[in-house]
Amino acid sequence: MNSPGRNVYRSAQRTIVRLWWITALALALAALCAAQTPQFERGRNGMVVTSEKHASAAGLAVLKSGGNAVDAAVAAAFALAVTHPAAGNIGGGGFLLVRLAGGETNFIDFREQAPLAATEDMYLGPDGKPTQDSVIGWRAAGVPGTVRGLELAHRRYGKLAWKDVAAPAVKLARDGFALSAAQARSLNGSRLLAQFPESRRIFQRNGTAWSEGDVLKQPELAQVLERIAAAGAQDFYEGETARRLADAMRAHGGLITLEDLRRYRAVERAPLSGGYKGYTILSAPPPSSGGAGLLQVLGVLAGTGYEKSGPGSAPTIHYVAEALRRFFAERGEFLGDPDFERLPVAGLLDPRHLDRLRRSIDPERATPSRSLRAGAPLFEAPETTHLTAVDRAGNAAALTYTLNGSFGSGVTVPGLGFLLNNEMDDFSVQPGFPNSAGLVQGRVNAIRAGKRPLSSMTPTIVLKDGQFFLALGSPGSGRIISSVLQVLLNVIDHRMPLAEAVAYPRFHHQWLPDRLYVEPGFRIETLRKLEAMGHAVEQTRGIGEVQAVWLNGGWLEGVADPRGEGAAGGY
Ligand code: DON
Repeated sequence: MNSPGRNVYRSAQRTIVRLWWITALALALAALCAAQTPQFERGRNGMVVTSEKHASAAGLAVLKSGGNAVDAAVAAAFALAVTHPAAGNIGGGGFLLVRLAGGETNFIDFREQAPLAATEDMYLGPDGKPTQDSVIGWRAAGVPGTVRGLELAHRRYGKLAWKDVAAPAVKLARDGFALSAAQARSLNGSRLLAQFPESRRIFQRNGTAWSEGDVLKQPELAQVLERIAAAGAQDFYEGETARRLADAMRAHGGLITLEDLRRYRAVERAPLSGGYKGYTILSAPPPSSGGAGLLQVLGVLAGTGYEKSGPGSAPTIHYVAEALRRFFAERGEFLGDPDFERLPVAGLLDPRHLDRLRRSIDPERATPSRSLRAGAPLFEAPETTHLTAVDRAGNAAALTYTLNGSFGSGVTVPGLGFLLNNEMDDFSVQPGFPNSAGLVQGRVNAIRAGKRPLSSMTPTIVLKDGQFFLALGSPGSGRIISSVLQVLLNVIDHRMPLAEAVAYPRFHHQWLPDRLYVEPGFRIETLRKLEAMGHAVEQTRGIGEVQAVWLNGGWLEGVADPRGEGAAGGY
């Protein structure tokens, strides 16, 4: 039967089927987009960039529900403690640089501290040589600072309720999240985690390899986070979590006691600030060497015209590497914890000193590091993570935190589900002996009870005409300083858009060992020229992993470094 009514019915049916397909396709596409990790995102209302997509989503959700940049940074940091166990943490420490739209700046130092029982030669064996104890196991951990730091930041600047800011992390820990292929590989491949039964049980399923898409649930960590969400940092430093941590330390020969935890405070410090070509650079003061390094190198470069031969050219790389070499030689000698040592920060940045350093650079020849001072080789495998959040009002938060090595000391406290740092290795375990990042440091950074080890973490915010312009940071130990520096130079001197500036190949020099590390991507003739100038060029991968946000033509643009799996979330 072919009645007109039936035709109308058929055509309506076809339309419905078409609509259904279109809707299904749109939903599938939306799901696909949501599951992907945009490394670049723009928005007018807010932006969060972290090294892991669930954490970026947590920060973005907090922004959308009315939170500011600090709320978002705190939420993302708690989330990374769940979804990026190699570096995200509550068992480690770090730094948060805040700059409010109204002009207030603050630097929250939640770096780990040496336990009260720590002594200068605690990591030297009977033969007087450093042991592995500062790197692996219970004795490697400094008193964690993250939870106090996040609480202080939130108390000072947060808008949303604390429990709401912690909530996304609790959910991720309790319900789990799907592992990416790279996460699965990193957990499966860690020989460090395999050495500690509780770490092996939680993060390696007792040796049953993870595959992409497997769901990692962390019920013990969820409980700790729930207690923190309910009782604040008090639980971690004086409550049940503190007691269990101190008991486990005692049972395993670790140093951290209830007294260490109870005493731990996050500290507010004035950021270092300086000018470069009309921009204001705000960055990390000691106990980080990051801001001093950044400002010294910028100060040495300013006015030299080093950039004229273009990014990636031999003369440009040479000049920047020589400035870095000189800074790292001074870093080991002069920088440490300002609460324990008198540090000549102003002297390191004094225009006369910068001038002397500038004049000591031979434009044609590499200066052998040995002629500057003595040291030894580079070890591998550290892990830190940086996140950046900016809100609609122009408040900016740049947070770098770490367990130091990848998965820290390898130790998960039984029943608590989180990894402990091995930040004690950032002290000069023995002056002149390189730490696991290959950094050679001096007596100024020797271990003392309650002292904070010297860091290179460099959360940085740049202002233009007194307004927010750019915020960024990176992991990578000494390489952090080179990474942040080069993104700034790419943007300011080489006029690159942020995404290009972040992706551009990087290089690194840290005085000792006397090598110029270069990522793939530089021209072979350039590298030959550098060798002819006297540089020991060594190919390496992954110099830093920058997460950055800038304001570009009224848009907030977020860029996650293509070197990692980071994601930008904005709206
Ligand atoms: O504070 C520091 O400088 C080091 N503990 C950071 C370690 C690090 O960046 C490792 N990252 N990949």
